[in-house]
Amino acid sequence: MTDNRIATAALGAGGPAVGVQGLGCMGMSFAYGPADADTSRATLERALELGVTLYDTADAYGDGDNERFLAPFLRAHRDEVVVASKFALSIPPDEPDRRIIRNDGPYIRQAVEASLKRLDVDVIDLYYMHRRDVNVPIEETVGVMAELVREGKVGQLGLSEVTADELRTAHTVHPIAAVQSEWSLFSRDIEAGVVPAARELGVTLVPYSPLGRGFLAGSFADADQDLTAGDFRRRMPRFTGANAAANAALLEPVRTVAGAHGATPGQIALAWVHRRAAVHGLPVVPIPGTRRPARVEENTAATRITLTEEDLALLDPIAAQVAGTRYADMTFTSAGRE
Ligand SMILES: NC(=O)c1ccc[n+]([C@@H]2O[C@H](COP(=O)([O-])OP(=O)(O)OC[C@H]3O[C@@H](n4cnc5c(N)ncnc54)[C@H](OP(=O)(O)O)[C@@H]3O)[C@@H](O)[C@H]2O)c1
Repeated sequence: MTDNRIATAALGAGGPAVGVQGLGCMGMSFAYGPADADTSRATLERALELGVTLYDTADAYGDGDNERFLAPFLRAHRDEVVVASKFALSIPPDEPDRRIIRNDGPYIRQAVEASLKRLDVDVIDLYYMHRRDVNVPIEETVGVMAELVREGKVGQLGLSEVTADELRTAHTVHPIAAVQSEWSLFSRDIEAGVVPAARELGVTLVPYSPLGRGFLAGSFADADQDLTAGDFRRRMPRFTGANAAANAALLEPVRTVAGAHGATPGQIALAWVHRRAAVHGLPVVPIPGTRRPARVEENTAATRITLTEEDLALLDPIAAQVAGTRYADMTFTSAGRE
């Protein structure tokens, strides 16, 4: 054990303790351009050394590739890590703009078996509904998910991009441990309804894309110019053309606060998520994604930065000025249905 291990937080009321920052594994197989497998494996190991225990994947990431990629790491460290995966969304590899969303029982049952097999585990510790299919009552979906818990295939339940009402209804069927939704300096829409509902119900918030998909950390400035042809971020309205230029200008206060703390802009973006969660009074386990060990070191070190009221006064106004929505089609998000 090293002394730079991160603190822990509970995953859901009475749930297991996990490192207060998780690791988003999506980019190791999907969405963000070519990845080097050896460096990604080293990233998984370094994260664990630093106290990161929640590893996030989904069946949709690379059509199962990301789950398969994680399997050897999970075999080596099964008792030390909490693995989270998701069902409901599939993206045909030859049609990257298409989204197929299923929340019905037969689909969930085949999805969980396929994920268990690819991950090569007996139980998926945290199983999320990735996206909401409004044609299936949420009570029905969570009812089937609860059966998976009773059957020992799944440990805890989570929901991604649900509305506050959907979360409340789901929670009456079975306790929901975690809501995974986008939350960052650039994306604060969940603070209106989802965050207060999660606090009230004792649900842990797992913010995804807390680094604004790398934009807040300065890893790219214009998706069309800086990223490879298949990169998913080239389809996101915020990161291209005039919107990208306008949004890059919004990063100045982040750099100012970073300078004051002797930190990087990415660390300030991560520290902000923790600070905002503290303001709202709920537990939070952000899952920044990276494929590089040095960035895991940088990102986990951010958990030791405490922002001041003055910092928040500079950072909080940013989100309202962001140009462009977080997805081209917002109907798949909680904000798109609220
Ligand atoms: N539930 C959902 O619908 C949903 C949606 C999106 C994502 N997710 C999950 O959330 C995780 C995190 O979200 P995300 O990956 O979209 O976005 P993110 O964590 O905001 O940003 C990831 C990007 O930032 C870069 N990065 C990471 N640390 C950095 C640092 N210290 N300095 C500079 N750049 C840095 C990464 O590049 P490198 O990899 O090259 O370091 C990557 O391109 C995903 O991995 C996935 O598991 C869930």
